[in-house]
Amino acid sequence: MNEIHLTQIDSTQNYAKAHAEKFPKEEITCFSADEQTAGRGRSNKKWVSPKGVNIYATFYFTLPTHARHVVSLAQLLAYSFTRLLVQKGLNPQIKWPNDVLLQGKKVSGILCETQFHREIVEIFLGIGINVNMDEETASQIDQTATSLFLETGEPWDRRALLKALQIQFQKDLQLFKTAGFRPFQTEFNERLAFKGEKIRCFDGAKEWAGICQSVNEEGQLNLLLPNQTLQTLRSGDIRG
Ligand code: BTN
Repeated sequence: MNEIHLTQIDSTQNYAKAHAEKFPKEEITCFSADEQTAGRGRSNKKWVSPKGVNIYATFYFTLPTHARHVVSLAQLLAYSFTRLLVQKGLNPQIKWPNDVLLQGKKVSGILCETQFHREIVEIFLGIGINVNMDEETASQIDQTATSLFLETGEPWDRRALLKALQIQFQKDLQLFKTAGFRPFQTEFNERLAFKGEKIRCFDGAKEWAGICQSVNEEGQLNLLLPNQTLQTLRSGDIRG
């Protein structure tokens, strides 16, 4: 994996997009930074990115345009990170589609942006992980946020964690390229937050209410509606 580490940048997503052409399309390049001055989250939200405490990284790679599973790449990265936390003895959950939670609080968020061309699609898969962020900074974030430090009471080595994530993600992407999301579905479902609970989910056009049931083999959410039919959502935001 190619690695580019920056001290300060507006957003690793923006930097990756501006510089992607210099990097091999057949490999993964990881752009990371100590601080972001304009970190971006999903739905045009800001991603709080203080200096030197967290991980801000964008994985850049390409897939063939006809690849079926591009829509579940963010779920894949959430899975890879979750896997690492489980190895460290933690008990993370995944709030579909790709927020990683500890004790019901958000520790990591993922933003997947794509640029489609005739033959290939360029993927900019960004992840923010709250690593050593303190309580005061976490409390300034609009949603219930936490950090690995706050959950474990110990400081974490950011470089070692990013390295471990790079290795895990590279391995998972390899399998994903040939087999899609299917090999990850069972474990993802075991870690699915709100499973069996009544949720509301806004899919960009409509707000759905139902029981959060499972994700299917393409990483989409199965919602059981009050009339007992199953509604499958490709993307959306859960409001628990
Ligand atoms: C979300 O949960 O809303 C997604 C957050 C994604 C944040 C990461 S930090 C690295 C990369 N650069 C950005 O500006 N955003 C993503």
